[in-house]
Amino acid sequence: MHWMARKGRPLKGEITVPGDKSVSHRSIMLGALAEGTTRIRGFLEGEDTRATAAVFQQLGIEIESLPSGERLVHGRGLHGLRGSSDALDCGNAGTGMRLLAGVMAGQRFDSVLIGDASLSKRPMRRVTEPLALMGARIDTEAGGLPPLRIHGAQSLRGIDYATPMASAQVKSAVLLAGLYAEGATQVTEPHPTRDYTERMLAAFGWPIDYGEGRARLSGGHRLEAQQIAVPADFSSAAFFIVAASLIPGSDLLIRNVGIHPRRTGLLRALALMGARIDIEPKPGSERPGAEPVADIRVRHAELHGADIPEDVVPDMIDEFPALFVAASVAEGLTRVRGAAELRVKESDRLGTMAAGLRQLGVQVEETPDGADIIGGLLGSAHIDSHGDHRIAMSFSIAGQLCAGEVRIDHCDTVATSFPGFDALARSIGFELGLSS
Ligand code: S3P
Repeated sequence: MHWMARKGRPLKGEITVPGDKSVSHRSIMLGALAEGTTRIRGFLEGEDTRATAAVFQQLGIEIESLPSGERLVHGRGLHGLRGSSDALDCGNAGTGMRLLAGVMAGQRFDSVLIGDASLSKRPMRRVTEPLALMGARIDTEAGGLPPLRIHGAQSLRGIDYATPMASAQVKSAVLLAGLYAEGATQVTEPHPTRDYTERMLAAFGWPIDYGEGRARLSGGHRLEAQQIAVPADFSSAAFFIVAASLIPGSDLLIRNVGIHPRRTGLLRALALMGARIDIEPKPGSERPGAEPVADIRVRHAELHGADIPEDVVPDMIDEFPALFVAASVAEGLTRVRGAAELRVKESDRLGTMAAGLRQLGVQVEETPDGADIIGGLLGSAHIDSHGDHRIAMSFSIAGQLCAGEVRIDHCDTVATSFPGFDALARSIGFELGLSS
């Protein structure tokens, strides 16, 4: 599927975006391993999270989709999964595969995790190495790539693990394996990352001690089914936050967005660039296991470049494609460093964004762990999104700001995280169509 984007109208109105991807993956996983029926409201019906649900169905878990849009997960307890002789297909989802590696390492049966072409190129040693320290046996392809062949019936033991990179996926894989391990499992991080696994484990009744950048739990407890309300995904809202900031005359309200502090670094970055964003927190949204939620009002502002502090990078790790578009029309220089992790996302996001923005006429200097971007006028371009959902959505914003047209190839993967993005975007003023 290809998109054609060109200048539309100022963005106006009120919208809601789909449910949080990170919370949705975890709610299926913990729901499946819990005893009883977990009810999930606001589940993200995207390809990534549906792949995770399908994997657990393949492992013998009954998961219902109600007409209300809710999902019911009939958990069978920590040892209730049934092995499958077929490979477990995680689709495009790094989160699905890495967290599942932790869960499957603790099972009594063997399993094989596979993914699509993009996921098959993503590094898995970051999870297989700590899991091996716990006693897991996992074979990978050369270079630590998927498929992951996980040998069951290993005795796992707790470890004290310092993650080399700020990664909630790595932390979560180790903690989930820790449910099955003898003794205590502890993870410390170089920078605190999203703590949904920790919060949700606590909500499901598993004793866990956690704080900024550290978590500790022991094996041998049980999970109890919960009711989960998934907030709207900040990373999906981010595209409209950036778009409304950049498109003159815009005034947009995005409702009920999760504003977990480890997710909202983009707000800090945009504030440095002069954006006009108001956060109206929703009272009562701070429940155990839940995250704070707010309405976000965004009005257009003339942005200027900024030096993005390195300590904010992990808190906006999924938002750089959109931020790069903001930088490309902001006045002056925007400097990003300390973001080498972007090279191992659904595509090499530093390389893919730099190449696309250069085609649009933007001055971009790429470095191993960041970029210098000087804002200017955007022309036209034919962009290869490399099948990366966030790259495709980001260039659809660039299209609203350019003098010509932006054609974006391989947009199908937008449905992994944001089904219905293009229709929603059009409804508030985007000019964005399918192209043949
Ligand atoms: C996620 C963590 C992040 C993020 C991904 C979702 C999660 O990855 O990029 O989209 O749900 O834990 P890393 O933890 O590998 O940085």
